[in-house]
Amino acid sequence: MLELAIGTGRIALPLAAHGIDVHGIDASKAMIAKLREKPGGDRIPVTLGDFADVGVSGRYSLVFVVFNTFFGLLAQEDQVRCFRNVAEHLTEDGLFVLEAFVPDVARFDRGQRVSVSRVGLGEAWLDVAKHDPVDQLVSSQHLVVSEQGIRLYPVQVRYAWPAELDLMARLANLALRDRWEGWTREPFTERSGSHVSVYARAGA
Ligand SMILES: C[S@@+](CC[C@H](N)C(=O)[O-])C[C@H]1O[C@@H](n2cnc3c(N)ncnc32)[C@H](O)[C@@H]1O
Repeated sequence: MLELAIGTGRIALPLAAHGIDVHGIDASKAMIAKLREKPGGDRIPVTLGDFADVGVSGRYSLVFVVFNTFFGLLAQEDQVRCFRNVAEHLTEDGLFVLEAFVPDVARFDRGQRVSVSRVGLGEAWLDVAKHDPVDQLVSSQHLVVSEQGIRLYPVQVRYAWPAELDLMARLANLALRDRWEGWTREPFTERSGSHVSVYARAGA
C-alpha cells in the first residue's frame, strides 16, 4: 500500500509493524528524516516529492491520504491531478481512501474567525483565520502568545465538500464505494463533521 504524505510515519509505522508492506511519499526531507529516526522507519521506502504527482513506479491495492492532508493541495487543479495520478497507480481492484473534514463555513463571520484554544498563566493560544469562499481557501495561523514572544504556526488548506471529491473521482474514472464518518464505520450523515471515503475504479 502507499501513503500520500507519510510524514513521520504515525500511521505507516504501526502498519509496517503488523507486517504490511507500506510505501510513502512526502515533500519534506525533515519529516522523512524524523521517520527514519523511529524504530523501523529506515525500512519504509519513501519517495521525496509532491503527492499530487504520485511519482512512484508500480501499482498499489491501496493508496491512502489521511488527516485532512489532501486539502494541503491548494488548488482545485492539483486536487484533480492527484485523483488522476492515484487512479493510474491503483491495481484493477485497488482502492483509494481519503480522510478529511466536512467543511463548515458557518465557522466564519464575514470571512474571518478568531478563537481561543487555551489560556494558561504564562501563555494563550489563539487561532486566526481568513476564508476565501471563491477558491475555497482557508489561511490560518495558530498563535502562541507568551512572555517569550509570539510563535506562529501557519496552516493553509483548500477544502472541498464530499460531493466535489466524488466529482474529482469521476474525472479520474473512479467511483465512491463507501463513505463513513470515521474509522470504525460510523454512518455518514448530514451532521457528520468528517468522513472516510473509499474510491474504486468505476464499474469495478
Ligand atoms: C499533518 S502531516 C500528516 C502526516 C501523516 N500522514 C499523519 O497522518 O500523521 C502532513 C504531511 O504532508 C506533507 N505534505 C504536505 N503537502 C505535501 C505535498 N504536496 N506533497 C507531499 N507531501 C506533502 C508534509 O510534509 C507532512 O509530512
